[in-house]
Amino acid sequence: MYTTEYLLNYINKAINEISYSNKPEGLYAPIKYTLDGGGKRIRPVLTLAVCDALGVDIAQAINQALGIEIYHNFTLLHDDVMDKADMRRGRPTVHIKWNEETAILSGDAMLTMASQYACINAGDKIAQVMELFNRTAMEVYEGQQYDMDFESRNDVTVEEYLNMICLKTSVLLGCACEMGALMAGASDEVKDAFYKYGVKLGLAFQLQDDYLDTYGDPVVFGKKIGGDILNDKKTWLLISAMAEDKSGRLQKMIGADIAPEEKIKTVTAIYNELNLAERCHVLIDDYAADAISELDKIQLSAEAKSFFVELAQKSCRRTH
Ligand code: IPE
Ligand code: IPE
Ligand code: MG
Ligand code: MG
Ligand code: MG
Repeated sequence: MYTTEYLLNYINKAINEISYSNKPEGLYAPIKYTLDGGGKRIRPVLTLAVCDALGVDIAQAINQALGIEIYHNFTLLHDDVMDKADMRRGRPTVHIKWNEETAILSGDAMLTMASQYACINAGDKIAQVMELFNRTAMEVYEGQQYDMDFESRNDVTVEEYLNMICLKTSVLLGCACEMGALMAGASDEVKDAFYKYGVKLGLAFQLQDDYLDTYGDPVVFGKKIGGDILNDKKTWLLISAMAEDKSGRLQKMIGADIAPEEKIKTVTAIYNELNLAERCHVLIDDYAADAISELDKIQLSAEAKSFFVELAQKSCRRTH
């Protein structure tokens, strides 16, 4: 079993080797800026790790892994416009460095690049690859629409929130895992168990992202803190606080015209009073444990199993 570091190097080398048309620069420069701008690469790591764990050469799945990473990066360009976010990975987002038109069009081009990569060397699995890829992509858009709809709703339940993050985030981690199994020629049972591992890991992953949006260190996290609070994003933190805050202070903050720093400070103070940071981690750990239990359905070497166990555990306390 390769280490995460080895897989990361392998992926970053493949990303560095992507060749772009030079013209028009306005289309390609932002794509290169985004793909070269780092990121944890958790999705392509999952694809290659699954392929490796099943005893198949990771070269078999690298193009599909790249397709998924490029797709993920495309969603970020549009997401940052939708969320009015000006920092990512410690740098200005594409719509700030260039403009919104650029984020839309370079994002569109990345979506097409993503499906081009997913098809390379897919051989007789191409129909299954595209079915998985396209189904997942549609679900991500559904999740993103719910995320936006929920900004102006104050009756969002935890169940609706979990469904929304499953769609916008988890299914892509599930897809990344299943893609590795598919390219390795695994059975439906194995593909399904890896998909479920990825989806449950994805729930823990997005809950931690929401936690970091309030409690992270902006220098390490690479994004501005408090964006979710300013946008009235219905995170688990906010939904729980809305249900439990009896003082009426939180209600006054939602949808109101308050100075950004004041709003972030007040809402965070309410979260703190309700001990939500700690309680959120109980939930995150539960989803990671659920993800890990899916691994029991797959025959894996002890080494492979501990790779996926550690990855899930590390995701629960990641700081970026
Ligand atoms: C950001 O994803 C969007 C979410 C689904 C939380 P990542 O946290 O994987 O972003 P990068 O690619 O590592 O920057
Ligand atoms: C990300 O959700 C989901 C997608 C990009 C599809 P967020 O909006 O929380 O992601 P960040 O925090 O901007 O990375
Ligand atoms: Mg966002
Ligand atoms: Mg968003
Ligand atoms: Mg976020």
